[in-house]
Amino acid sequence: MAVFSSAAMLVALLPALAAGAAGARCGAVRMMVGMPDGLSGKVASTKRGGGMASRFGARAATAAAERGGSGGRRRAAAPPSVVSESTTFSTVSDLNQLSLSDFRCHSLATDDAPDVDPFALVADEIALLNDDVCTQVGAEDEVLTASAQHFFGTGNTRAGKRVRPVLVCLMGRATALAAKLDEPQQQHAEAQNRRLAAITEMIHTASLVHDDVLDAADTRRGGSAVHRLYSTKAAVLSGDFLLARASVALARLEMPSVTQEMAKSLEALVQGEIMQLQSSADERLSLEYYLTKSYCKTASLMAFSCKSAALLTGHLRESEVAVAAEKFGYHFGLAFQVIDDLLDFTGTSDTLGKPGLQDMALGLSTAPVLYGIDEHPELKTLVARKFGEDGDVQRACELVLDSRGLERTKELATFHAQAAVDACCSLPESEERDGLIQLCHVVLSRSS
Ligand code: FPP
Ligand code: MG
Repeated sequence: MAVFSSAAMLVALLPALAAGAAGARCGAVRMMVGMPDGLSGKVASTKRGGGMASRFGARAATAAAERGGSGGRRRAAAPPSVVSESTTFSTVSDLNQLSLSDFRCHSLATDDAPDVDPFALVADEIALLNDDVCTQVGAEDEVLTASAQHFFGTGNTRAGKRVRPVLVCLMGRATALAAKLDEPQQQHAEAQNRRLAAITEMIHTASLVHDDVLDAADTRRGGSAVHRLYSTKAAVLSGDFLLARASVALARLEMPSVTQEMAKSLEALVQGEIMQLQSSADERLSLEYYLTKSYCKTASLMAFSCKSAALLTGHLRESEVAVAAEKFGYHFGLAFQVIDDLLDFTGTSDTLGKPGLQDMALGLSTAPVLYGIDEHPELKTLVARKFGEDGDVQRACELVLDSRGLERTKELATFHAQAAVDACCSLPESEERDGLIQLCHVVLSRSS
């Protein structure tokens, strides 16, 4: 298993960014992300037999150790380190090995979506989010304030769907039920989770502002990208500023375990971006590499924030509830990203709020292309040269549409959405749990 440190990663990134070339590799990121059996030829998840205890076994044992239980392994005192090694690989591997399919209480294929509106359930919390964030990212400098507040102003187009905050609020309530909190504790946990929802959206927004600089994108959510509206410097600084204020808010939660989990999501976001910037032809042809990158770029923030929501309701880091919350976010995030990549082929600028077929224009190979290769090997050449010659994007599009690429991509997303549902099913029954399950239907049917 390869590991790498954040410091090494940044050192590796700088020359490559400067030169715009492959440079030093982020080769350490080699993890396997779950794929449905039969689609990848690889075993997605290894079921551990027996009851709850054995399915959650290894993690539960660690939780016992943290609680100081007699059955657990006590941690040897380690010297404090400023930058610890990345745990991304082992996190993903653990999540893949854990199957919660025995808990299945809902089938996305055969059951109707629960009759509940997840957005309405947490509408009050989400309504406060814009004002809350605008207050937190007010600065002396006018441009910095305006650019940092850009996606938190009025108007639905700019706000986006607020999927991450909705996930956090629903997961917070769903996991609170499993914690049996008294009224004051419950209110405290809800308030903490509202803050976490805002923090998560600030991090996400910062990453989008920076991403649009890296991708030289003109538009975002149907309007101008921040760097086009202001300047590249303003966009870089406003993303940094959002992150800085999110970090202050995180520290104010006074929950070191949540700070640590959320910090890991920041690292993963950067890792994902590096994987995208620096890929070899072989890596661009690999579904495993694509899914790993998708975990880093999209699913990690959802996984760590869902897990943090459970921590804020009093669950231990390695508890079954916290692990189920993380697993929900992980699979939900992968389904979300895979559908995003499908929509890049099927959506229009109007529905997406950004131009279609952007991925290939940026040289990226996503699931539809990778599956298309099985029927049209010619796609390999186009992937290898990053669709860089005149007509490559158009030709690749034709070949994908003439293959089962889109259909198999939908199957891949469905596999992950169902795994997310199964993780939810291990939580106590509640309206919020139904809301999360409903979101899994939404993620598969969304058109924007
Ligand atoms: C969108 O991807 C980009 C992300 C989800 C993550 C971007 C991460 C960074 C720029 C690393 C820096 C991180 C922080 C926290 C500042 P996309 O380009 O595939 O999607 P798009 O079509 O919506 O642009
Ligand atoms: Mg982009």
